Amino acid sequence: METGFGNFYYKDGQLYCEELPVEEIAKQVGTPVYIYSKKGIKDKINQYKDAFKDYPTIISYAVKSNPNLSILKIAKEEGLGADIVSGGELYRVLKAGIDPNKVVYAGVGKTDRELKEGIEAGILSFNVESIMELEILNSIAGQIGKKANVSIRVNPDVNPKTHPYISTGLKKSKFGIDMEDAPEAFHLAEKLPNINLIGIHSHIGSQITDVSPYKEAVEKIAELVSKLEKEGIKLQYIDVGGGLGIKYKPEDTPPTPYHLAEAILPTVKQTGLKLIVEPGRSLTGEAGILVAQVIFLKDKGEKHFIIVDAGMNDLLRPAMYQAYHHIIPTKHKQPSIKADIVGPICETGDFLALDREIANLNRGEYIAVMSAGAYGFSMASNYNSRPRAVEVLVDGDRFTVIRKRETYEDIIKGEV
Ligand code: LLP
Repeated sequence: METGFGNFYYKDGQLYCEELPVEEIAKQVGTPVYIYSKKGIKDKINQYKDAFKDYPTIISYAVKSNPNLSILKIAKEEGLGADIVSGGELYRVLKAGIDPNKVVYAGVGKTDRELKEGIEAGILSFNVESIMELEILNSIAGQIGKKANVSIRVNPDVNPKTHPYISTGLKKSKFGIDMEDAPEAFHLAEKLPNINLIGIHSHIGSQITDVSPYKEAVEKIAELVSKLEKEGIKLQYIDVGGGLGIKYKPEDTPPTPYHLAEAILPTVKQTGLKLIVEPGRSLTGEAGILVAQVIFLKDKGEKHFIIVDAGMNDLLRPAMYQAYHHIIPTKHKQPSIKADIVGPICETGDFLALDREIANLNRGEYIAVMSAGAYGFSMASNYNSRPRAVEVLVDGDRFTVIRKRETYEDIIKGEV
């Protein structure tokens, strides 16, 4: 029976991930547990590859969405590059063996150490977000006697029509350089002796469910590219960032990589530049779930609470963005009550769902929080001194623990 979420489906009343019953995994490794489908991730990668196969394109996986080394290994096996935002992400990417020549590095606040490490690794591009960053990068590159490859991140001032916290391409946001100021940045980059100017970058936001803002952004960028060309600046790459939305409700029909390609390729082709895309959520999001166990049930008059062993420290998105995640029992049951599904953390904001139609669950039963593969574990914390969850990768009828559950010792490590 379909759940609406691809590789997660019901068979004989049990929720499966690929060929394994989810509850079996939860019983073996405990809860909370993040479970990822390898096939789910590979299917999405293949969609991107196929959608862009007729145009020179580098697919740089946005590591922040799910940085687990085993997930990065899949990206590497599939020949993907990486989009990173920190020294820690660079470290992971190199460990996973991803080709530095497919690595792009964004972020408004790269430290001297991070810039140096990126130059030494020989990454494809620093996506530079300010004039000051450009100057500092030039001087650090000079000190170590190497050139730094640079794209300028521009801010095309388009509205991606998504949650304000994950909109990045509006003029008022901290990201990128405004279109009016961008030519100055390109001319400076062209002049600086230790900078190798290669491209133009933009990333307009995340969980974008309509491709028209991409089209609008790429059109604005193409105009700038042609203006720069007239001024003698020839680029090699256009990087359109990530942000493609995914399904959070079973009935959602988000755009696919094919829709994205269709929206942007005609304009990209006119520029003649090679393309870079930076998908994160659209590769890993739907391929992962968070499984939790019901600890207690509580009724306060009209209001029902299902208290589970995963909280906002495990999955922050509902608390932080009021994000909707579909929740289903691992043993199939029809919804029959309305309840708040909450975690054990001492905050009113600690919920996975509010006023949700759900089956009447018993203590000890399990729930699956769908589409939790991106920005799930990667945003987890030890708040309330809770050890972070275990992560599992399913491949067909086998699963592997790809990150052990933290212990109490782990959470005080480094403290004196
Ligand atoms: N490239 C850049 C420069 C980015 O800043 C991001 C995400 C991506 C690519 C990948 O975007 P994606 O394809 O995953 O949408 N924590 C939020 C999402 C924050 C996204 C930050 N930047 C959430 O849980 O919804």
